[in-house]
Amino acid sequence: MQEILLVLCAYCLGSIPTSVWVSRGFFGIDIRDYGSGNAGATNTFRTLGPRWGSFVMICDVLKGFFAVKLVELLPAFDTEIALLNMQLIFGIAAVIGHIFPVWADFKGGKGVATLFGLVIGISPWTALACSGVFLLVLYLTRFVSLSSILASIAFPVFILVIFNVDNHFYRVFAVAVALLVILTHQKNISRIIKGGENKVPIFKKRDR
Ligand code: G3P
Repeated sequence: MQEILLVLCAYCLGSIPTSVWVSRGFFGIDIRDYGSGNAGATNTFRTLGPRWGSFVMICDVLKGFFAVKLVELLPAFDTEIALLNMQLIFGIAAVIGHIFPVWADFKGGKGVATLFGLVIGISPWTALACSGVFLLVLYLTRFVSLSSILASIAFPVFILVIFNVDNHFYRVFAVAVALLVILTHQKNISRIIKGGENKVPIFKKRDR
């Protein structure tokens, strides 16, 4: 029973639509009517500038991180695997909340920042390795969407091949994350193919 209540709490936490509340509260607009239409940090960065984009990113990452930490409200677990599985369940609930937020008409973001917070909470080294992939792709292409997709695809590769994690649920979760991120980025993928995807104005080579 306690577990079910905490899963609901994790979902409600993930549902906090940071970008929607920031855009409505401080600018009187709905971020979903601007830019890519996504209720996420990248679109906030694009529409409202780097300061608010960074704020939304930090809040969205923290939602995944704190959802995982909800396990600390439960009695101690018998095994490490049982603990990890419960952390994953809380994290997944937060990511579902971020994508389908109860506080914002179930129209949320693409899940990347909250997934990242989840991974920081359960395996910081894997999060660091995925950030490396993200930054490298961002440096090379300046597409946040492609960087998110490739970092998510790298996630199961790290889990299954490099860190060789011995937990079946975590392995399935890692593969599901990559598929989920591809799924939530379908419009971005089609824009990249057609040449219409936005690039972020960072890592730009200076004109001489
Ligand atoms: O995490 C979302 C990002 O990968 C893409 O956002 O606004 O360019 O669709 P956006």
